[in-house]
Amino acid sequence: MLQQSSQLLRSRACISTIAESLSRPLRPTPPLLSCYPSFVAPRAAVATPKLFSTSATHKMSTKSAAAASHDEFNRNSLFSMKGRVALVTGGGSGIGLMATQALAVNGAKVYIVGRNQEKLQMVVDTYGKDIEGEIIPITADITKKDEVAKLVKEIESREKCLCILVNNAGVSSSSLSTESESATEMKKNLFSPESSTFDDWTDTYRTNVASIFFVTTAFLPLLQASSERHPHWSGTVINISSISGLVKSAQHHFSYNASKAAAIHLTRMLAAEVAENGHKIRINSIAPGVFPSEMTADESDEFQKSHLAKEKYEDKVPASRPGKDVDMAQAILMFAANQYLNGQTLAVDGGYTLAAGL
Ligand SMILES: NC(=O)c1ccc[n+]([C@@H]2O[C@H](COP(=O)([O-])OP(=O)(O)OC[C@H]3O[C@@H](n4cnc5c(N)ncnc54)[C@H](OP(=O)(O)O)[C@@H]3O)[C@@H](O)[C@H]2O)c1
Repeated sequence: MLQQSSQLLRSRACISTIAESLSRPLRPTPPLLSCYPSFVAPRAAVATPKLFSTSATHKMSTKSAAAASHDEFNRNSLFSMKGRVALVTGGGSGIGLMATQALAVNGAKVYIVGRNQEKLQMVVDTYGKDIEGEIIPITADITKKDEVAKLVKEIESREKCLCILVNNAGVSSSSLSTESESATEMKKNLFSPESSTFDDWTDTYRTNVASIFFVTTAFLPLLQASSERHPHWSGTVINISSISGLVKSAQHHFSYNASKAAAIHLTRMLAAEVAENGHKIRINSIAPGVFPSEMTADESDEFQKSHLAKEKYEDKVPASRPGKDVDMAQAILMFAANQYLNGQTLAVDGGYTLAAGL
């Protein structure tokens, strides 16, 4: 008896510790583990209201409650982007265009940003018609701080908030041979080539890492304004990193892979600092495997789409194919819509990282 009541006390203390720690702002780690051995789940004590006591009323209310709940679970409610304002950097091709279509077709007004006006206009002309949302082009170089500031001013002049920011623009780095028979040959392959320069590293970092930092921090007030304007919604940032930032292999491009690992860590740091300050903005990252784009296929067709031969990937990835536009679209919608995801990186890679090892 005594043992039981002390166990109950311990479990109550444990529950209150857990409840307190969950409601407390992000502060020192609570001693949760010490509670676990004696933790006994309390019996659910949900009082049944009188209103529901007759079986007929009960059946009716159960039915209407179920209907209301079904509405919430409908895909149109779960993933609607109606009334949302989005901005996708590098929205004129490849993965950025996939993200743009996913958001705009499901109702968002999407600003696409790139350095080439013609490319952006082609996307608007091809994909901006007969959709629930809208696609609007803005030219800017997101590796220049003054252009980022100008971009924010432009959006501010048109919109009251920014709901979704997709930091997608990225560049590849030079490729180097990593295979070698001796340390001397390895040095020759990695240190000596003319293309192996400090500039290659800093240029790659400038677009793939620093621009994420500057674009995100510049848009923080508009992202926070989105959380304040829309109930049950938080302004959100989706960074397009890469499985190249997860795998241990350099894949022949050290600087690109290091930049993508940095983008993944930057995602987590930004998410943590924003949350620590109590701002309601979620920041996550998608790490794609191989998808058709100007980066991987070298070009786009007349519809700004790129193509990769399926056969080339049959034995390289468990899915036996490169990623499709809709694979990326579903991931984008999930990160935009799911209000309980923050600070995460998800590999959308057909199992590439499983096969490659991390
Ligand atoms: N495709 C893949 O298999 C794959 C896999 C993993 C990760 N990723 C990542 O996905 C992102 C998108 O790449 P992608 O594969 O779709 O290649 P992509 O077709 O070459 O797209 C990159 C886009 O970024 C834009 N961009 C580059 N530098 C910019 C700058 N300074 N300012 C504004 N826009 C800029 C480019 O437009 P302009 O040149 O017209 O400015 C282009 O539209 C990148 O971050 C890439 O690292 C791709």
